[in-house]
Amino acid sequence: MNKRRVVYEGKAKILYEGPEPGTLIQYFKDDTTAFDAQKRAVLDGKGVLNNRISEFMMTRLAGVGIPTHFIRRLNMREQLIKKVEIIPLEVVVRNVAAGSLAKRLGIEEGQVLPRPIVEFYYKDDALHDPLVTEEHIAAFGWAGPQEYDDLVSLALRVNDFMSGLFAAVGIRLIDFKLEFGRYFEGDAEIPRILLADEISPDSCRLWDFETGDKLDKDRFRRDLGGVTEAYAEVARRLGIIRESG
Ligand code: C5P
Repeated sequence: MNKRRVVYEGKAKILYEGPEPGTLIQYFKDDTTAFDAQKRAVLDGKGVLNNRISEFMMTRLAGVGIPTHFIRRLNMREQLIKKVEIIPLEVVVRNVAAGSLAKRLGIEEGQVLPRPIVEFYYKDDALHDPLVTEEHIAAFGWAGPQEYDDLVSLALRVNDFMSGLFAAVGIRLIDFKLEFGRYFEGDAEIPRILLADEISPDSCRLWDFETGDKLDKDRFRRDLGGVTEAYAEVARRLGIIRESG
């Protein structure tokens, strides 16, 4: 029985109170949703894979100086994280046109973008996470001017590093979504910005370099099948697990 206090329950994860003040436990569910949770499924083992893949990414990113909320993995489905105040923005970086960008601007999926594009979406399920600009972010105070600059530069550094990491295992990083939080260290008045949430095939588009096969959540969104198998393939190529499937 789980007696820990639930701090927040999202579509794919649960946050529990952590063992020490300032910490939380992030639990990865097998639940998968798309299109504002209109499409749902439980994919056996997906949470286990995302826990491992996100641990791997956060650890590697910390190794190149990106501050993250990740402390350590606790078990198959849980990791200990720093408790942050989530900035209400989804930061998307795109290298290749796909998904909502391709649709919005009428660009063919797969077209390489002239340069990486950073986009911000306001986190609000009821509004379907609308695209917002720096003007909205400043006017409504969702992030301060320095924070905004930090988000852009951190997102681009994550993109550089992850693009290389995936390319080395034959995967193209098409686009991905990040979330950030404010961490108040001790009694510091100015918080540090930490990379938060997760980095996994749920939040990235990953295409096989050779075949173009999708190794991400689009397999679920577009009913392509083999969702968990694709996530396992990503984990296998990154050397996180030995066998796929
Ligand atoms: O749907 P869209 O093309 O805007 O998604 C861009 C990237 O952000 C994709 O990798 C997608 O998986 C991710 N994303 C996400 N969570 C959302 C929206 C997008 O992880 N709520």
